[in-house]
Amino acid sequence: MLETVRGWIAQAQRIAVLTGAGVSAESGVPTFRDTQTGYWAQFNPQEMASERGFRAAPQRVWDWYEHRRAMLVGVQPNAGHQALAVFARRHPGRLALITQNVDGLHQRAGSEGVLCLHGDLAANRWLDRPRVCCDLARAQPGSPPRCAACGNLVRPGVVWFGEDLPPQVLDAAQQAAQACELMLVVGTAGAVYPAAGLAHQARQAGARVVVVNPAPSELDGVAHAVLRGTAAQLLPALLSDPA
Ligand code: APR
Repeated sequence: MLETVRGWIAQAQRIAVLTGAGVSAESGVPTFRDTQTGYWAQFNPQEMASERGFRAAPQRVWDWYEHRRAMLVGVQPNAGHQALAVFARRHPGRLALITQNVDGLHQRAGSEGVLCLHGDLAANRWLDRPRVCCDLARAQPGSPPRCAACGNLVRPGVVWFGEDLPPQVLDAAQQAAQACELMLVVGTAGAVYPAAGLAHQARQAGARVVVVNPAPSELDGVAHAVLRGTAAQLLPALLSDPA
């Protein structure tokens, strides 16, 4: 099946890739839903990844995101991230990379124009509509930082459950999903919408869909091919140029 999918990649002028936390697993970044190791096995997502949870316990949520940011300092992109970046460099304009990840590892591997559906862990923004006094560069230090003048809290620049995705990013991702001839769905459980819906849109628009995942996912049923393996093993094998 690997050679078949390599053939599909060679034929496709427009490829969309949708990645999830699994593409960073081999860099040592925990996923969300892998049992035992996943974040959601240790924390309640509604408390740690929602505005309501942040308002209820700002310091607990802020500290968790600071812990995740600190952990990222020590990790490196893996061969899966690198294979995607190299392919895009060798084949300009053929690959649209859409990610649910906020870890910035695709960008650190050299991928450009990454469509980050769920924001960026390294970014901050204001919890309430910023006033003229709110300046992130001069926020009062704390857990979380806040505006010294009006008390507005600083929050992580990621999309939380129940929040809208950045409209321009989602629109670009939907256009890429509808225009592609092939979509690779890598390292996602396919449990969260609208991100997971991009695979359905690609299929409905006539693209071939390939899932790369060591375990069953909710998107296996929309795939023409399911490759049981990891991102760092299979992406280099799939994306390396023919010998
Ligand atoms: N290579 C490829 N896939 C892997 C690997 C690996 N080495 N290790 C685990 N996986 C797969 C798992 O089998 C699982 O299907 O990665 C997937 C990870 O699923 P989740 O933890 O649910 O992550 P994801 O699908 O990206 O979650 C989507 O949910 O919590 C929200 O905003 C958060 O962006 C996240 C979204």
